[in-house]
Amino acid sequence: MTELDQAARQILRGNDLGGYTVPTAGLYPFQWNWDSCLVALGWATFDEARAWAEIDSLLSAQWDDGMVPHIVFHKPSPTYFPGPDVWGTGRTPPTSGITQPPVAATVVRRLLETATDTALAEAKARSMLPKLFAWHRWFHTQRDPHGEGLVGIIHPWETGRDNAADWDAAMAAVPTEGVGEYQRRDLQHVDADQRPKKVDYDRYLYMVKHGREAGWNPDGLHDSAPFCVADIGINALLLRADRDLAALARRFGDGGAAASLESWIVRSEAGLQRLWHDGDGTYRSLDRKTGALVDASGSGAFLMLTADAAPADRRDRLLAMMDRWLAAVPYGVPSLAPADPRFDAKRYWRGPCWLVVNYLIADGCIGAGRSDLAERLRADSRAMVEKSGFWEYFDPTDGAGLGGDNFTWTAAMWLAWAGQ
Ligand code: DGY
Repeated sequence: MTELDQAARQILRGNDLGGYTVPTAGLYPFQWNWDSCLVALGWATFDEARAWAEIDSLLSAQWDDGMVPHIVFHKPSPTYFPGPDVWGTGRTPPTSGITQPPVAATVVRRLLETATDTALAEAKARSMLPKLFAWHRWFHTQRDPHGEGLVGIIHPWETGRDNAADWDAAMAAVPTEGVGEYQRRDLQHVDADQRPKKVDYDRYLYMVKHGREAGWNPDGLHDSAPFCVADIGINALLLRADRDLAALARRFGDGGAAASLESWIVRSEAGLQRLWHDGDGTYRSLDRKTGALVDASGSGAFLMLTADAAPADRRDRLLAMMDRWLAAVPYGVPSLAPADPRFDAKRYWRGPCWLVVNYLIADGCIGAGRSDLAERLRADSRAMVEKSGFWEYFDPTDGAGLGGDNFTWTAAMWLAWAGQ
């Protein structure tokens, strides 16, 4: 074991609050949905039981309608805003009222297929199947109420790519009336030039207010929300997760779940093609309020490779776009096209690289026959950690660490992938 391996394990242990892992102390003091799932891959490299516990803990906060929330507020903390009182979901344990990218099924399948303790893995994966299926059904019904083969997100936080340029136009249409005064806590932990702006937060909070006033009742929320986007990233990850969940359903003999998943897969494969942007040779998100594709090419599009959902000609153009981006910066993958005038190498999802996204995209590159690109992403990820440490995200122009330090999912990606 190298010193970095030891440090990465220590970060996971240090951020373990007892059955769940916080992304980092202070900045994110609760359990986050897709963080936890990807972090389980890191735990599994030295403690498989703990990896399963991470997902169990997340699923224990599942809503009755199937949604798995984006934050679970297991214990109070004054270091984060907005907390459970602002969300007002009335759940026990308290949770936010929105979801996050559904990577759980993909992770569960991988944990099962790489397990050493196969009896534990079989039992855990089998017990999680109905919960994961209920979450996917929630996505395909509540978030695709008109059966378009694309799910909508009602808050940028649901994508995990909070302030991506993808949302700029849709965000500009969100009002801020009635949000009132509030105190951000993130700026007590991280420089303001690495975080979303105040104008973004005003709108984030307006969307939370809208959901709270609607009682977080999913019926109608998709259509009434002030912001609704069919995000290329979350739709691609859902399709990939549907494929993984269908494989689990077949393995465990649940023919009904497998059949539903197969029908959603067919619908999503067709729906996703409506997001093709021929000019840039990429896929873009779609603003459901205007019916138009958004005006930004971001890294979310590369998740189409992970979903294996692009026809060969489109896949090759997408790979060519990645080649161009990687020629423009020493460290990939930037979260926004380096040539976009809004590219900002330090501001969260408007330029910086994220190891979890690199990991997911690299997996897709291998499937697309571009192991060279997968290896470039792994080498870049490794180099950024070796140079700067286990930061939340990294500057693609020089590999400098940004955001929160001692970050759990960066450490997990080191253990499960980049540091291998
Ligand atoms: C935050 O608070 O920055 C989170 O990304 C919301 O999920």
